Amino acid sequence: MKAIKYVLVSIYSCAILVACGGKEEKKKEGFSYEKKTSEPKKAVADDINDVVITSNDLMKFNKSEIKVKAGKKVKITLKHVGKLDKKVMGHNFVLLKQGVDLVGFGNKAVAFADNGYIPEGTEDVIAYTKIIGAGETAVVEFDAPAPGEYDFLCSFPGHYSMMKGKFIVE
Ligand code: CO
Repeated sequence: MKAIKYVLVSIYSCAILVACGGKEEKKKEGFSYEKKTSEPKKAVADDINDVVITSNDLMKFNKSEIKVKAGKKVKITLKHVGKLDKKVMGHNFVLLKQGVDLVGFGNKAVAFADNGYIPEGTEDVIAYTKIIGAGETAVVEFDAPAPGEYDFLCSFPGHYSMMKGKFIVE
């Protein structure tokens, strides 16, 4: 009789162990699932230079140097993270051809408000975005120019002295 009791207890304990084991397994499954979904996604396309640059109410870009790889497309995403309207604190991104004088271009651009401060018919630029204001985003895509160093600026009146930088193609 005692032996039978012992066996019964053993079976009971086994049942508890199995139940516990089952729960643990479920937890583990849940954990591994969460881990999978939070894994960072790999970079999308490798054939494009994806550049994000922000501009603000203090008349500044967050980058003074942009490096891209030659032989690939360039996608510039310009964001205005300030609160001011484009009429008072407008920004654009203008990439100049090599040899173009940045100050000269900036001064010439002032007269072309109706054309987004890009001189009409100019051959001085490689690429440019429209003028944007608070909360807006502008995107421009183009083929990376030949390896070398280029100037970029914001051509809104008076901004080029602070909003400029080097665009380097490697
Ligand atoms: Co500007």
